[in-house]
Amino acid sequence: TKEIMIAPSILAADFARLGEEVAAIDAAGADWIHCDVMDGHFVPNISFGADVIKAIRPYSKKPFDVHLMIAPVDPYIEAFAKAGADIITVHAEAGAHLDRSLQAIRSLGSKAGVSLCPSTPEAVIEYVLDRIDLVLVMTVNPGFGGQSFIASQIDKIRRIRTMIGGRPIRLEVDGGITRDNAAAVSAAGADTLVAGSAVFRGESAGEYAANIAAIRIA
Ligand code: DX5
Ligand code: ZN
Repeated sequence: TKEIMIAPSILAADFARLGEEVAAIDAAGADWIHCDVMDGHFVPNISFGADVIKAIRPYSKKPFDVHLMIAPVDPYIEAFAKAGADIITVHAEAGAHLDRSLQAIRSLGSKAGVSLCPSTPEAVIEYVLDRIDLVLVMTVNPGFGGQSFIASQIDKIRRIRTMIGGRPIRLEVDGGITRDNAAAVSAAGADTLVAGSAVFRGESAGEYAANIAAIRIA
């Protein structure tokens, strides 16, 4: 079995101290830094863009896992690659040409991910499996942190794990992940867990290391 990666989402961080927050989760044991980019169009909320990611990039040497919830996405991929995104994930629902977006990401030297909203069936990734390094299963409807985990996605995680087979593709889950459901999503086949509220506002408030460890131990 693969090692579990924990990717705290800085959407739940203190935006006035974003660089320090990145350094703090790095020191607290985060494996990846998850950055949620929202455009107020593909999702009903606006967060931050490539210039902010560029500004905080020096605060950690760990991989920056950039989740683009924007449409259109193709005109912005290069800016995120140049900002220092190690992994760039686009939504299957964000445009008509997923294959092209994924090729663009890899051609810029970043790893390519595809994300699926809760209502999107896993079949949409069938013909791009050789173009991706990561699948991101949304376990909430994207747009906001702090929402409740949608349990129907457990079945989708299991099916995608089977589809991946022996390919070197990480299977990430995002939305409502806590120490209470971490075991169920990893048992279903997830190997990378995003957590925003559970890390930044978890049971051990202000103790990022304890919150990350609780998810990892679970
Ligand atoms: C939702 C984002 C998630 C979210 C996770 O649109 O993609 O990364 O911030 O936050 P929690 O863990 O609070 O659900
Ligand atoms: Zn995310």
